Amino acid sequence: MSRRNKIYEGKAKILYEGPEPGTLIQYFKDDATAFNAQKRATLQGKGVLNNCISEHVFTQLNAIGIPTHFIRRINMREQLVRGVEIIPVEFVVRNVAAGSICKRLGLEEGMPLPRGIVEYYYKDDALGDPMVGEEHITAFGWAQDFELDEIIHMCLRVNDFLCGLFAAIGIRLVDFKMEFGRLYTDDLMQIILADEISPDNCRLWDMKTNEKLDKDRFRRDMGGEIEAYQEVARRLVSCQAPI
Ligand code: C5P
Repeated sequence: MSRRNKIYEGKAKILYEGPEPGTLIQYFKDDATAFNAQKRATLQGKGVLNNCISEHVFTQLNAIGIPTHFIRRINMREQLVRGVEIIPVEFVVRNVAAGSICKRLGLEEGMPLPRGIVEYYYKDDALGDPMVGEEHITAFGWAQDFELDEIIHMCLRVNDFLCGLFAAIGIRLVDFKMEFGRLYTDDLMQIILADEISPDNCRLWDMKTNEKLDKDRFRRDMGGEIEAYQEVARRLVSCQAPI
């Protein structure tokens, strides 16, 4: 691994140069951070679980025709992905009130939202990823109008599909974060889904008990993070949705 060329190291993942041009290797670390990295820990085995969960989710998304960066899982901690020019905006879709929207709008945690709501946050650690509007995204050129329209459409499609995927295994998809990038092939540009989808960037509640099966366990010092992530992986893998 050390012989590989490191392209980027984030809080929970490392990107290495891939074996073929245009590919990268996405390595999942055990490091957990919250509150813009003010809280840190190592959760033994988290990387392996997120690699497995994200592989499963991205495979299903590829299968229904959502373009993603995921090619295949290589081993326990790594997957082969397409290299993209990342759009510096985090797209959050919410179905149920939780986390920052509760504070911002005075909502009670657990309140179903009237419809899936898409929010935008500018990716900038130093600024603490501030919430922005469509005007900022297009005015500052982070994405063009037509790109943003396409991304919003994809956000809602992914949300619809994942709500069903998780509901089938008794899990409510409360909210989640996505990142998108531009893939250039010859003179064609395509927007594709990048990053990961795992309990690190989703809120997942057991439908019967409302038990939290996601990173909120770490954020709120509840403990049992690995057991919760294992439960999500176990249910996802044991229920291969027929496509
Ligand atoms: O904190 P907040 O309620 O805004 O988070 C909404 C969703 O986006 C949560 O599922 C959270 O895990 C995810 N998120 C993320 N990375 C961030 C901010 C939020 O994955 N930087």
